[in-house]
Amino acid sequence: MQAVTASGAGGPDVLNVVTLPRPVAGPGQILVRVHAAGINRPDVMQREGNYPPPPGASDILGLEMAGVVEALGDGASRFAVGDRVMALVPSGGYGEWCAVHETNALPVPEGVSMIEAAAIPETFFTVWSNVFQRAGLKKGETILIHGGTSGIGTATILLAKALGCRVIVTCGSDEKCAAAKGNGADVAINYKTSDFVKEARTATDGKGPDVILDMVGGDYMQRNIEAVAIDGRIAQIAFQKPAKAEMNMLQLLTKRLTWTGSTLRARPVEMKAELCRALAENVLPLLAKGIARPVIDSTYPLSDVRGAHARMDSGGHVGKIVLTMTQ
Ligand SMILES: NC(=O)c1ccc[n+]([C@@H]2O[C@H](COP(=O)([O-])OP(=O)(O)OC[C@H]3O[C@@H](n4cnc5c(N)ncnc54)[C@H](OP(=O)(O)O)[C@@H]3O)[C@@H](O)[C@H]2O)c1
Repeated sequence: MQAVTASGAGGPDVLNVVTLPRPVAGPGQILVRVHAAGINRPDVMQREGNYPPPPGASDILGLEMAGVVEALGDGASRFAVGDRVMALVPSGGYGEWCAVHETNALPVPEGVSMIEAAAIPETFFTVWSNVFQRAGLKKGETILIHGGTSGIGTATILLAKALGCRVIVTCGSDEKCAAAKGNGADVAINYKTSDFVKEARTATDGKGPDVILDMVGGDYMQRNIEAVAIDGRIAQIAFQKPAKAEMNMLQLLTKRLTWTGSTLRARPVEMKAELCRALAENVLPLLAKGIARPVIDSTYPLSDVRGAHARMDSGGHVGKIVLTMTQ
């Protein structure tokens, strides 16, 4: 089969479409004929040599994919051959076939395209886990999302709005602010021309957002603590700026804050299965009703994976970039 691996660490030109043996469904796994695979910032980090696959995972890139079940491994019984599925994988999404444990896959609701489905698992699982489970965002609360037009940010806007929350985002340009508002954000702050701490507090009548989703780190860590409401929660999912910062943590106590962080990829199959069940209960119905559909920036054929990564490197995208396979 055709699949994408990296010949070294570097820019998009280290990515190559190579011919590899088709994977086989192991015990409890399903073999999926992949129709589309989502691209995520962690794929770029892997390509740059900064995010190796966890032990036992293949060196084929890709953390999510959607396709049709083609074979069942021993003991696999949740899906039938021919079912449309989307799945979270520790690696291997950028290939024409992919084997995944059946508990880490979800059915693709009717009306959701394979391209949309491929754009769901990594971002929606991350957001559900960090924003709703760990940071406990509830109906009627306000969330501040950094990176409002990112794959993660667009998914957070959709889910937070669908569940009755108010949404403030930060973006790096007025065009991205307009795009985020077009996708449902109530308030968009251009962090290059405004102070997000001041703007977020003004937009909440001085109270501050109840939850902040941060993928930036660096000086944002101190500023988040200043911006967030009393009893607020901060979910840290990445450090695009340094993970180290000198900080005054006093407000962690005086504001009774909760600061949580996690990564998704390294979690064991069982933890992802638990999350899959939560998504099936809480998010699949929203997808099925058309209330929350992922924002697709662009699609590229597998053969142009370098073009797809160059698009992500440019930072110009709004929502998800998706690879499509020739069927
Ligand atoms: N912990 C986990 O389990 C997990 C899982 C998936 C992804 N992630 C992380 O989540 C982040 C988003 O992933 P993605 O795939 O959605 O990536 P993406 O679409 O490329 O988004 C990256 C976003 O970061 C923003 N950004 C970059 N530098 C910034 C800065 N200095 N200040 C403010 N915003 C900045 C960009 O916004 P502007 O262009 O507007 O600046 C962009 O919207 C990545 O850092 C990724 O590693 C974590």
